[in-house]
This record gives sequence, C-alpha cells and structure tokens, in this order.
Amino acid sequence: MNRSVPSFQDVVRSRHSTRGFLPTPIPRGILEEMLREAQYAPSNCNTQPWNVHVVSGKKLQELSAILVDALRAEHYTLDFSFDKNDYPEPYKTRVAEQGGRYYRALGVARGDALSRAEVVERNLRFFGAPHAAFLFLPAVGDNVRVASDVGMYAQTFLLSLAARGYAGVPQAVLGYFADTVRQALGVPDELKLLFGISFGMPDSTHAAFNYREDRIPLEESIVWHE
Ligand SMILES: Cc1cc2nc3c(=O)[nH]c(=O)nc-3n(C[C@H](O)[C@H](O)[C@H](O)COP(=O)(O)O)c2cc1C
Repeated sequence: MNRSVPSFQDVVRSRHSTRGFLPTPIPRGILEEMLREAQYAPSNCNTQPWNVHVVSGKKLQELSAILVDALRAEHYTLDFSFDKNDYPEPYKTRVAEQGGRYYRALGVARGDALSRAEVVERNLRFFGAPHAAFLFLPAVGDNVRVASDVGMYAQTFLLSLAARGYAGVPQAVLGYFADTVRQALGVPDELKLLFGISFGMPDSTHAAFNYREDRIPLEESIVWHE
C-alpha cells in the first residue's frame, strides 16, 4: 500500500474533536502502534504516570449503559473538580462562545433543555465510537504535574489518531463518574480519573462533522521578551 505520509503541520491542523463516529473498530495492531507512539510523550522525571484503560466492543456498550444510568441518577463522583463557572475572563467568554457554536452546529436551540441533556448523554454513548480510553493517574501532591504529563500523553495519542485519518474527542464529562468507571473496570481507588477519549473513524454524515473551533491570535497568548 502506498499511503502518503501527512506533514506534521497537516496532522496538527487536521486534528479536531470529533463527535460522531462509525462503529467499525480500529484493527488491534494499529491501535497498539498509536498507543506506543503516545508513550513517547514527555513527563516529569520520565515518570510516565499514565494508566490507560482502553474499552471496546460489548464491554463499551455495557459501560455506556451504566454511565447513562449514573447520569440519570445524578450520581456524580469527580476525582478532580470542574465547574465552568469558575473560569475568570477572558476564559469565561470563550466557554460560553464555544458552547454556543457547538449547539448551533448541532441545531439545538438555546432554551432547549431536553436536547441539551441529550447532547450530554451522547458523551456517555461515546458519540458512537468503537473505543474509549480512560486516563487514570496516581495521586501525587496537588496532582497538577501528573495531570500535565497525562495531558501531553493525550495530545500525542490524538495526533497519532489524526495522522492515520482516525479521530478522537477528549471528554471531561467521562470523569464525572469516576467511581462508576473504576467499579465497572476493576480499577483500584488509588488511580484517579482525569478524563476519557472516545475515538475511531469519523462519521462524515454526522450533523457536526464540519464543526471546527478556531484559535485566538498569537498576540493573545504570547509575550515576547528579548
Ligand atoms: C481535557 C478536555 C476535556 C474536554 N471535555 C469535553 C467533553 O466532555 N465533551 C466534549 O464534547 N468535548 C470536550 N472537550 C473538547 C473541547 O471542547 C475541544 O477540544 C475544544 O473546543 C477545541 O476544539 P478542537 O478539539 O476541535 O480543536 C474537551 C477537551 C479537553 C482538552
């Protein structure tokens, strides 16, 4: 097979969060190749603190049903707090604007609470993806360093997916049910759930297939010192 290799810039620019997947699983060999690439992420003192549970097939369907039940029962058990209202400006505005763009892309009206609840539930159905990875980490101090290592791992994995025409979406929502996930997967309490990633082949017929998030200008992030 003569597969053309995309440039690094193509991979970085093409990666985006996909929220509609085809059910076709990724062949195990390719999946292992991508997970091996993710292992090359840097980490503090090369501790490699990522503990990753990859769930597929029947187990993923079972887990989805358990998570939807937990959501409906409002049984939230977060290892790491997350409240969008905590963001100060300018991040607060970005949160609101991203939400608005996303719901518009899906055709969900502002006051439509029922459809919005369905969008949250779709997170727990893994957006139809054939695989989900749950990213756990050991509790160390305030966890900021370890979490940043796991973030680097996650992005490397997402880029590995993008390089092969696959896609994924990191999901804080999956971390809202840490106890439920730990119990379902037999994960010890010592490992804390940062977030999950649903991944697979994107579904080009999905309503949000063409939805893309832009980026702020460089001047808003970078301060030059010379
Ligand atoms: C740690 C993390 C958690 C996220 N949680 C969710 C989530 O729960 N549900 C979701 O649909 N998207 C989630 N996202 C995706 C972001 O909305 C997305 O990355 C952002 O809007 C930028 O868009 P892009 O990834 O397409 O470039 C998350 C992203 C990150 C990095």
